[in-house]
Amino acid sequence: MAVLVTGGAGYIGSHMVLDLLDAGETVVVLDDLSTGFRGAVPAGVTLIEGDFGDEALVTRLVEQHGIDAIAHFAAKIVVPESVSDPLGYYLNNTAKARNLIAVAVATGVRHFIFSSTAAVYGNVGSDAVSEDTPLAPVSPYGRSKLMVEWMLADTAVAHDLRYVVLRYFNVAGADPQGRAGQSTRDATHLIKVAVQAALGRRAGLNIFGNDYPTPDGTCLRDYIQVSDLVRAHIDALRYLRAGGEPLTCNCGYAKGFSVREVVDVVKTVSGVDFPVTMSPRRPGDPAAIVARNDLVRERLGWQPQHDDLHAIVAQALAWERRLHNQEP
Ligand code: UFG
Repeated sequence: MAVLVTGGAGYIGSHMVLDLLDAGETVVVLDDLSTGFRGAVPAGVTLIEGDFGDEALVTRLVEQHGIDAIAHFAAKIVVPESVSDPLGYYLNNTAKARNLIAVAVATGVRHFIFSSTAAVYGNVGSDAVSEDTPLAPVSPYGRSKLMVEWMLADTAVAHDLRYVVLRYFNVAGADPQGRAGQSTRDATHLIKVAVQAALGRRAGLNIFGNDYPTPDGTCLRDYIQVSDLVRAHIDALRYLRAGGEPLTCNCGYAKGFSVREVVDVVKTVSGVDFPVTMSPRRPGDPAAIVARNDLVRERLGWQPQHDDLHAIVAQALAWERRLHNQEP
């Protein structure tokens, strides 16, 4: 038995690999290293540099390594980029995922864990969303992921494939033991950008829009710590191997923080009052998106351990300092 982790050299995937190893699993990483890093994969783990949409390659890996579960992280993940490059997103996130699912069916891999996103909901208002909220994504990114959810649902009806779809809210922070973190180049995610500004790696931070219908006019998001998110995947793997039925769950803390609040926490934790500029809205951004998380708790037994925005920011800062020190 082994778990194939696509995107295992990336931010969330690399945390998943660590947790799988901690749980005594055998792991094979498939990553094209377009945004991931070879060094993010621990020594001793098989890393195949390649395309998860390459059916012949994935078939070979499944057969060679006795894969019984696929955790599919590899994806393009930047909402505004999806607006300017929709076809790139539909190719990578949707069409290639179809190939991966087809290989799972053809080779008899029965367990599939898919990284979906809160972006499938679209503009939902400030109430926390449950999984049965109508889906109306407002970006190509959200639509590219939603189509994969549909493919999995249809495939599970027609074939012996069971899956867990996890809809991530805003993932942040780093491994509390300091073994992994977000190394993404040209990062666009708020907490990463803010800690870079605090460390002087950027001149400052732009807040994209302060005229949203939210309490302080800036967007509300539900920031989930990366190890807690990964824990939901470990729970999902156990659930699937125990014969669990297809399931789709939100992964978030059911708490919203505004962009302004996040910026203030980064300033407090870092002790640096970096420059902040008000800028126009960014395309594809919903005003507010906060999770209900009853389902992941009840069905997967998920219990978050790092629900603390100050600690999340401190982890992101510690990782960023480390990256900074490694670079010339
Ligand atoms: N923001 C800024 N300035 C920045 C960066 C971000 O104001 O420099 C704002 C954004 O406009 C948004 C909020 O901070 O209002 C969060 O933006 P991120 O880019 O950090 O994250 P997104 O909410 O756009 O997207 C993330 C993930 C998606 C996921 C989505 C779910 O990247 O995969 O959360 O809401 F779908």
